[in-house]
Amino acid sequence: MTNIGVVGLNYWGPNLVRNFNDLANLTWLCDLDEQQLKQMAARYPHAQMTTNFDDLLADTALDAIVIATPVPTHYALAKQALEAGKHVFVEKPPAMRAVEMDELVSLAVEQDRVLMPGHLLLYHPGVLKLKDLIASGELGDVLCVYGNRVNLGIVRSNENALWSLGVHDLSVILYLLDEDPELATAQGSASIHPGVEDVVFCFLRFPSGKIAHMHLSWLDPHKMRTMTVVGREKMVVFDDMEPERKVTVYEKHAGPTGELYSGDISIPKISTQEPLRLECTYFLELVDGQHDKSKVARDGARVVRALEMLTNSLHG
Ligand SMILES: NC(=O)c1ccc[n+]([C@@H]2O[C@H](COP(=O)([O-])OP(=O)(O)OC[C@H]3O[C@@H](n4cnc5c(N)ncnc54)[C@H](O)[C@@H]3O)[C@@H](O)[C@H]2O)c1
Repeated sequence: MTNIGVVGLNYWGPNLVRNFNDLANLTWLCDLDEQQLKQMAARYPHAQMTTNFDDLLADTALDAIVIATPVPTHYALAKQALEAGKHVFVEKPPAMRAVEMDELVSLAVEQDRVLMPGHLLLYHPGVLKLKDLIASGELGDVLCVYGNRVNLGIVRSNENALWSLGVHDLSVILYLLDEDPELATAQGSASIHPGVEDVVFCFLRFPSGKIAHMHLSWLDPHKMRTMTVVGREKMVVFDDMEPERKVTVYEKHAGPTGELYSGDISIPKISTQEPLRLECTYFLELVDGQHDKSKVARDGARVVRALEMLTNSLHG
């Protein structure tokens, strides 16, 4: 069993703790806030508690560190963990700048350790279905992809909608298209907290000619979590707000001379397994030597590069 330590125990960390406690040997819990630690101690008495991250680094029996602290801390903590020879699962995004992410990827290769960014949606059975439909050729050539991730609140004061919401859709778009964008532009507005965009529209164009769009907002009457893929033969919608119809395939397309075809609509069965459980399992399998550990790190770097392009455009 892999020995795991989790750092960052406020909102998201406890979900990771719950899963890793079931799947691995939870040996450390770490947070700067003693109150958080005390609350967790009652539930996980077998784990050692500390406010000092160095205690995890110094434990030679500890195999892997899971980082669920605020984004600006990710790079430094992940770097220290890799340098100490630990496998690392780090919440998205692992770094705020492409150059830092490249450094982490190189360090993981040098140390022969896993560096897995927590892009949860890439383990969602609905998103995996989208990938299958594209890879099998069922949709035909993909023409465009767009995501809507909008709702009212929670309005954050320290992280804009691109970094908080957009990183999810960006990871999915790049996973589906498997290309780096040649153009990534973003426009937004900050109506509540000055300088922190609460509404952002993004446009991406890829070398293959495919295009993508993301609408990200905390100021919207709808709650939407959708990703639409338009192919030459069929179109498909992933809707994470739908309890049962997560993926809908439309036999709709335009023929070579522009004639429109609209046929059957189908709803493939999608596994109801918890994406977070699948994500944590995948990390442990990587630590165990299964799959291609360099791919998750490289895919994470692609997301940070695109985020950087979009951020430069938004603030340019
Ligand atoms: N995958 C998802 O769907 C998802 C959802 C929510 C949050 N997240 C990610 O999870 C991470 C944490 O988010 P959150 O909302 O729980 O953050 P948060 O700010 O609520 O909690 C972070 C915790 O980390 C602790 N911390 C900060 N620096 C530390 C350090 N150096 N050592 C030890 N503890 C430290 C803080 O005391 C706090 O308890 C973020 O990266 C966020 O993007 C992912």
